[in-house]
Amino acid sequence: MTNLLEIKNLSVVISEDKRVLVNDVSFEIKPGEAVGVVGESGSGKTLSALSILGLLARGLKIESGEIRFKGADLLKSSAEDLRSIRGKEIAMIYQDPMTALNPVMKIGEQLQEVLDSHQHQITDQKTHILNGLAAVGIADPNRAFDSYPHEFSGGMRQRVMIAMSLLLSPELLIADEPTTALDVTIQRQILALVAKERKRRNMSMLWITHDLGVVANLVDRVIVMYAGRVVETGTVDEIFKAPKHPYTAGLLASLPAAGRDRERLESIPGVPPKPWQVLNTCAFAPRCKEARDICSSHRPELTSNESSSVACFFPLGVKQ
Ligand SMILES: Nc1ncnc2c1ncn2[C@@H]1O[C@H](COP(=O)(O)OP(=O)(O)OP(=O)(O)O)[C@@H](O)[C@H]1O
Ligand SMILES: [Mg+2]
Repeated sequence: MTNLLEIKNLSVVISEDKRVLVNDVSFEIKPGEAVGVVGESGSGKTLSALSILGLLARGLKIESGEIRFKGADLLKSSAEDLRSIRGKEIAMIYQDPMTALNPVMKIGEQLQEVLDSHQHQITDQKTHILNGLAAVGIADPNRAFDSYPHEFSGGMRQRVMIAMSLLLSPELLIADEPTTALDVTIQRQILALVAKERKRRNMSMLWITHDLGVVANLVDRVIVMYAGRVVETGTVDEIFKAPKHPYTAGLLASLPAAGRDRERLESIPGVPPKPWQVLNTCAFAPRCKEARDICSSHRPELTSNESSSVACFFPLGVKQ
């Protein structure tokens, strides 16, 4: 199967001093596949996602790499082509819905504007929008259509944003921690809703989170990032049942599990280094229980077998 999205050797740097923030990242998403990207704060998850859509902040730049969407290199696409891909073929939902919603415009008008901006040929725009709002669990779509964003709770605004992102039936949905600010019950409802819509539409998805627990029931495959690099990839089963990288095992151990005493949660001591501070070593070595001399003198390459890959000299569960 050809890949829908293919990222090859992506590196993002600070333009001014060339400090590297995302380092040689590669991964792909197949048509209909849902992929989770996890890792602690600062690991480069958001910058990787923004690179796909050409939305990096000023002062940052893509130093090298390729980003192919349906075969075409997005890094060589014109601004106009990128604009037409954004929203229509690749949609993004953000952590804070207010970054995407205009506070002084009624929700219905905003959704209509999305359709208009892509010259979407729908004879009955309003019905299409009302159906979209109903599909994300908004009980009174007509009322929502005539409301302003501030008239809604955080969870409802997030639903509106999801409706907006699905309006043009994108092939790929990129979600950057869209449920982090919501309480656990609402978070669960939103995750269930997204999972349902994804299946119904056979849509591909890239779901970014620092919380491995969030992606367990949501994605097919997981990519673990650490200090700007990919350190492990695998199917959800492989990652949850047999993590190979000690960092992934640490993330799993720090998940609150049913019946587990919250006081005695294992977590990973220390903090990640900045990507540019890591020279030719394993970035995780200073925090790693398994680390030996070589980990602080050489950098482990990401090596793959069939469905998984790991960058570690002493992967867990593998006989040395
Ligand atoms: N505009 C910028 N200028 C300089 N450094 C930046 C800029 N944006 C991000 N960074 C740095 O790049 C690194 C990666 O940032 P990124 O936002 O991708 O992390 P993340 O994995 O999404 O983290 P979080 O879980 O906190 O969202 C961080 O060290 C961050 O401080
Ligand atoms: Mg982020």
